[in-house]
Amino acid sequence: MNAVVFYSKTGQSATVAKYFSKQLSYPIVDLETCSERNYRNLVLVFPVYCQNLPVAIKDFLKKSQIENLTVIATYGKMCAGNVLYEIQRKYQRNIVAGAYLPTKHAYLATDSAFCEYERLAPILEKIKKPTTVRIPKRYKNPFAGFFPNWRSRIGLKICKTDRCDRCGLCTKGCSLRAIDAGVTNSKCIRCLKCVTECPKQALEIKLRLPLKLYLQKKKKDEVILYI
Ligand SMILES: Cc1cc2nc3c(=O)[nH]c(=O)nc-3n(C[C@H](O)[C@H](O)[C@H](O)COP(=O)(O)O)c2cc1C
Repeated sequence: MNAVVFYSKTGQSATVAKYFSKQLSYPIVDLETCSERNYRNLVLVFPVYCQNLPVAIKDFLKKSQIENLTVIATYGKMCAGNVLYEIQRKYQRNIVAGAYLPTKHAYLATDSAFCEYERLAPILEKIKKPTTVRIPKRYKNPFAGFFPNWRSRIGLKICKTDRCDRCGLCTKGCSLRAIDAGVTNSKCIRCLKCVTECPKQALEIKLRLPLKLYLQKKKKDEVILYI
């Protein structure tokens, strides 16, 4: 089958996935509800987490058979790491196209979303006439592989406010079982799905100083395509 599969917690990768689905007329599927493992043409859209691949993406790639794979990594303009190269080296060699797309950082309320959709035209063309592309290695911080989830956890706190009425939507929506009625536990990776989806806006984030300073660094607003 052909499909666009996305993994998205604050909506950025989901929006890009919708664009590909519309342009290619492929069905769109959320990775968290997806059971199919065999694909002819697959566009996989996901965010960069601490310059690494989200664990769910690694698991999906390990278990899937894909003839022609297109990989689209959204990143929050800090550092995209080397995730597309890692996919080609460790999981799937048959990549026909790839892209790093700068978008709103989940931790920055006023950041702007990806909007340069016209720049994706060469990727759409390549998907229609697939041949393997070689993804080059990019810079990744040498410490990025060390306890990435732990680093997110200590960088940011999720706080429950008085607006929480214990409706339990955050608990139900968290695939990692990392929150119970507004209170996070040690499984939380700070993806902010609960914060984004709370209908009462009852959860707030507090950035700790090291992460606050890191997020003030100059942004890299760079669209990188491999075709
Ligand atoms: C846990 C976590 C780690 C992140 N790490 C990085 C990073 O290393 N570099 C970067 O540029 N953006 C980083 N971001 C920002 C995300 O890549 C960006 O917000 C992404 O578009 C979120 O995608 P989503 O809305 O589909 O979940 C991180 C976001 C989260 C939640």
